[in-house]
Amino acid sequence: MKRAVYPGSFDPVTQGHLNIIERAADIFDEVVVCVMKNVDKQGLFSYGEREVLLKKATEHLDNVRIDISTGLLTDYMREEDIDTIIKGLRNSQDFQYEVDMARINKRIAPDTDTAFLISDPQYTMISSSGVRELIAYNADLKGFVPECILPEIAEMVGKDQL
Ligand code: PNS
Repeated sequence: MKRAVYPGSFDPVTQGHLNIIERAADIFDEVVVCVMKNVDKQGLFSYGEREVLLKKATEHLDNVRIDISTGLLTDYMREEDIDTIIKGLRNSQDFQYEVDMARINKRIAPDTDTAFLISDPQYTMISSSGVRELIAYNADLKGFVPECILPEIAEMVGKDQL
């Protein structure tokens, strides 16, 4: 059985993330989407809230599991017996950042690999930071996050509508 982990902050999960998850789920027998800590980012949603949103957004995918880990990705992979990391790439900025990260992970855990999926064009301008900005201004999030999680997001951020 071929399994992969798709790690990220998912603060919150976007339509672009979901597209990568759906495509990875077509390739691998099981995809574990793992909410992890990014030391460079301050969170808006708690890890538990991110997990709830991811579970709702992926409930149509039988071979996708959601998890949370606040440790090193490669430690998590060893514990879970997973050797492939999935990452999505939107642009050259993502590429530069992700290549460095992939090389660090490869150095720490040589028997693992990172596989990249290129973002579909309609999602290249979508980011969790953009979504957080829209939330701050109570703007419409339709098209940016999976439609089914709009009510949960509104409840979590304490706004009547988004
Ligand atoms: O969605 P993001 O913020 O780009 O995801 C980055 C993330 C969370 C995948 C990355 O920061 C990560 O792997 N964090 C866990 C700690 C770790 O293993 N860091 C990599 C060693 S440099």
